Amino acid sequence: RPFPSSSTLCHRGPPRTIKDDWPGYSLDLFTYPEHYHDDIESIYIPHGVIMNRTERLAHYIMDDFRDDNIMVLCVLKGGYKFCADLVEFIKILGRNSNKYLETRVEFIRLKSYLNDQSTEDLHIIGCRDLSFLRGKVCAIVDTGKTMKALLKHVETFEPKMVKVAGLLVKRLANMAESLTDYVGFEIPNRFVVGYALDYNEYFRDLNHICVLSRTGKMKYKI
Ligand code: HPA
Ligand code: MG
Repeated sequence: RPFPSSSTLCHRGPPRTIKDDWPGYSLDLFTYPEHYHDDIESIYIPHGVIMNRTERLAHYIMDDFRDDNIMVLCVLKGGYKFCADLVEFIKILGRNSNKYLETRVEFIRLKSYLNDQSTEDLHIIGCRDLSFLRGKVCAIVDTGKTMKALLKHVETFEPKMVKVAGLLVKRLANMAESLTDYVGFEIPNRFVVGYALDYNEYFRDLNHICVLSRTGKMKYKI
């Protein structure tokens, strides 16, 4: 079966946009780790919503790739939850439809944020040599902004096709959306934490995506 052309694959599904004035849910409505009680202002995207949206993205990916195999390149650290859950949903869908997508996973680590500010220098930590991608299909799983630089790096290894899945794409921030084929949520350009996204290494252990409070920003600032 020939490879699907990229024009049939891009930007699946209707917009899943979170509006600029969305305040998030009150903390009283959901459970979260007690130790972050004063540090988060609101629950921006509850864990259950993240999971269901991720399941939907897995459907799109299964439809697009059918009988192929994919090499997933997970961008650490912030992408580890999304990557794990997305791959899990792909496996479940395969099991339920008896149409398995052969999936392998590799990891790369990027760092570009200091406190809640994006910095110009992108550090690729760990696996710099991506030659295992040559001629493979890969879905880069990331949460946004560093995508452009990473894609440039990945393309030097000449993969057969590259598709990007991102849980969050920030409006205005950059051109990340046009680079992201499977978008979880388009959100306003604001700093969020949780579901593996950190603020100076804290909040990765929060299941929901949340907005920091002023207290939280001060407490964990470096
Ligand atoms: N939160 C945490 N890490 C990030 C973000 C964010 O909003 N954007 C890019 N890296
Ligand atoms: Mg970070």
